[in-house]
Amino acid sequence: MTLTVQPHRETLGLKDGQLFVGGQFRDSDETWTHHHPATGEEIGRFAVASVRDVDDAVRAARKAFDDGVWSRARVQERVRVLLRYANLLREHSDELRGLQALDNGVPLSFGQIYATSVGIAADIFEHHAGWIDKVGGQTLPPYQGGDHLAMTFREPVGVVAAILPWNAPFVLFAQKLAPALAAGCTIVVKPSEFASFCVIRMVQLLTEAGLPDGVVNLVTGPGEPTGQALITHPLVDKISFTGSRTVGRKIVEASAATMKRVSLELGGKSPALVFADAPNVGLAAMTCMGMVTMGLSGQACVAHTRALVAREVQEEFVTMATMMAGAVTFGDPFDPAVLASPLINARQLDRVLGYINRGQEEGARLVTGGTRLEGDLASGNFVAPTIFADVSNDMTVAREEIFGPVLTVVPFDDEDEAVRLANDTEYGLGAGIYTNDVKRAFRVAKSLRAGMVGINGFQLEPHVPFGGYKQSGLGREGGQSAYEAYTELKTVMMPLTDELM
Ligand code: NAI
Repeated sequence: MTLTVQPHRETLGLKDGQLFVGGQFRDSDETWTHHHPATGEEIGRFAVASVRDVDDAVRAARKAFDDGVWSRARVQERVRVLLRYANLLREHSDELRGLQALDNGVPLSFGQIYATSVGIAADIFEHHAGWIDKVGGQTLPPYQGGDHLAMTFREPVGVVAAILPWNAPFVLFAQKLAPALAAGCTIVVKPSEFASFCVIRMVQLLTEAGLPDGVVNLVTGPGEPTGQALITHPLVDKISFTGSRTVGRKIVEASAATMKRVSLELGGKSPALVFADAPNVGLAAMTCMGMVTMGLSGQACVAHTRALVAREVQEEFVTMATMMAGAVTFGDPFDPAVLASPLINARQLDRVLGYINRGQEEGARLVTGGTRLEGDLASGNFVAPTIFADVSNDMTVAREEIFGPVLTVVPFDDEDEAVRLANDTEYGLGAGIYTNDVKRAFRVAKSLRAGMVGINGFQLEPHVPFGGYKQSGLGREGGQSAYEAYTELKTVMMPLTDELM
């Protein structure tokens, strides 16, 4: 039977998506038709924000910021709105997971995994609500003696353009909007054209939480014209972006004209270093393979896609990873037994299959997978979980971010070589270390040029910094550093006598 998700569209009551500008929902001249990645079916349409629509949205955010309707509102009122919103998210969790399944095909089963769930999004809003009355400046002693005050204040950075990818819309919406709102900023948010419906609903819920008009505005549409109009708009003070390195570079270039502040969360080619003394080599293999197959099918920036494995346990590792590959199930994302998603679109499908061909041409050993799934799944962008073993770190599959269900296994002979291979990458987002030797664990953790290191495990949580070294990005989301990234630091000085300072 051919796979269809249409009935769920009806159950969820999906309507055409609109823009949200200055507190009003409105249409645009053009629309985008979303096709489901698992079935190819038309799911629905939403507005494509033109250059003029984006201008309206930025001006609405600018006005709300300059009027101080949010940044100068009573602290307790701002806290209340964010907490109310966190509760609304939890109440609408099932609906949002359903909309996400219609958007990007992420199965309902994975929508419950904490790191990408509506639950973590709610927790992130609560976490940042807590900063509002706690992060302040400093009072500094007069440097050259005498009698004067030197103080610092933290003030909201202004109008923020928040640009999201399609793979984890709940958590990434929250990682940007929660600290920005807590800091007192106003926002224009642009979801990915491949995951807009759930974000449109998240914005509708913000209005129910009582956010004043103009504080959050929504522009839907693709990179051109919508995203490009947003990143080049002179009234935007800061761009907060998660997505590809290619677009990240465009943002850095666009920001130069008006010196916009920029936070970037880009891609990764994160290593997992599995030593022979790992507490459980099989579990390490299952974790790595799980990260590149379960749920997002490897379309996750933090996935440990490059397993560096001690040569003496490579076969044990590969055997367990292959078993894990066999346990992955595909199909209707609304079926609780389905564990993994399709690739987001035909372009991504071609890209991943192209990398798999390249791996074989360059001499990597294909252990399992490597093909598109056919039969009932032929209309979707499904690729079988794939493992390459005996990979050398200079092969393309070990160097470039594939963003698909492909694990590369690179053997090493000693700790120095493992660290050298781990750092031999342009990226620096995450890394995993599997060992029972606590001194080695910390020695290696210190040597890795990566933003987030897990020793025998890793969990994304609202209060911990998230982000990467090198070409994996700029700045950190999560925790106090994220809140501060949506502020400017102002220094104020004043003599306490009539003498000149
Ligand atoms: P993408 O970079 O193609 O798109 C991301 C967003 O940028 C979308 O909203 C898109 O419409 C927009 N965009 C595209 N061109 C633009 C332009 N010229 N100006 C402004 N906006 C533009 O990335 P995609 O395909 O959505 O996500 C996959 C990529 O994102 C992967 O490379 C992955 O590594 C990275 N990613 C990084 C994460 C992190 O936290 N480090 C998390 C998730 C994804």
